[in-house]
Amino acid sequence: MRQLIPREINFLNHHGIKEIDWIKIGEAPVEYLVGWAEFYGREFEVNQNVLIPRIETEQLINLSLAHLKSIFHQPLTINHQPLTVADLGTGSGCIGITLYLEILSLSSRARGQRRVEGSSTGIQMFLSDISDKSLEVAQRNLDRLVPKPNLINLIRSNIFDQFPSNLKFDLIIANLPYIPSARIAKLPKSVKDFEPLLALDGGPDGLKLINKLIAQSQLRLKLSGVLLLEIDETHKIKDLLLPKNFRAEIIKDQFGKRRFVKIGKEN
Ligand SMILES: C[S@@+](CC[C@H](N)C(=O)[O-])C[C@H]1O[C@@H](n2cnc3c(N)ncnc32)[C@H](O)[C@@H]1O
Repeated sequence: MRQLIPREINFLNHHGIKEIDWIKIGEAPVEYLVGWAEFYGREFEVNQNVLIPRIETEQLINLSLAHLKSIFHQPLTINHQPLTVADLGTGSGCIGITLYLEILSLSSRARGQRRVEGSSTGIQMFLSDISDKSLEVAQRNLDRLVPKPNLINLIRSNIFDQFPSNLKFDLIIANLPYIPSARIAKLPKSVKDFEPLLALDGGPDGLKLINKLIAQSQLRLKLSGVLLLEIDETHKIKDLLLPKNFRAEIIKDQFGKRRFVKIGKEN
């Protein structure tokens, strides 16, 4: 019989679930049972077509905001040209939607406004995924969480293949599938039996899609633009197929694991 950890008990209580038939449920993650997961203080709808947002991934938001502040000056003001941001492999939309809302809140605070408005934000935000079923979940999260959801572009695309060809970005963030294929069978049952393989399997070395994205970023990043990616702790800079003018830096997560890579063009 499955033993719940305190976090799972609290989570179920919070969602009003007291009685559960654990024999029927097996190792299903509690987030799929209730249909919600928390990310950066907000609740996102989830189902088995999307990965459950992970706490480590929240750091991508902090890293993104720190980068944007460094290029747009403190406090974040977005006056001159639209800030262009893409979240690839958006899944539930948790990264792109959170970042958009945090940028809105920073920019309205900088302008001394009390309410967060979706208009004239100066941000062009693109969320994309290859999976139609993920995009349906992302769309519902967008409609519920974002004041003017139609200002955000949701695109079905294999990495950048289906994006308009002339679009370049200040920031590209992505938590693409990065687990090496051979490790999938060794993952906990709660992951391998419930979460979508499309969200986990990164090919033989886990870098199939990450390296495809890096190659496409040569044309997609503005000169001062940055690529912020979540990676597997086994990945090293030498495993990345970096164009000559790109520089990369590995960043650890809050558990001390090598978890992110920040890539930019050398000026
Ligand atoms: C690890 S999940 C991340 C989901 C979400 N961004 C998060 O952090 O919780 C990876 C996502 O990439 C999507 N994906 C897989 N292959 C892709 C591809 N070739 N192009 C774009 N998205 C892809 C999957 O459908 C999945 O939603």
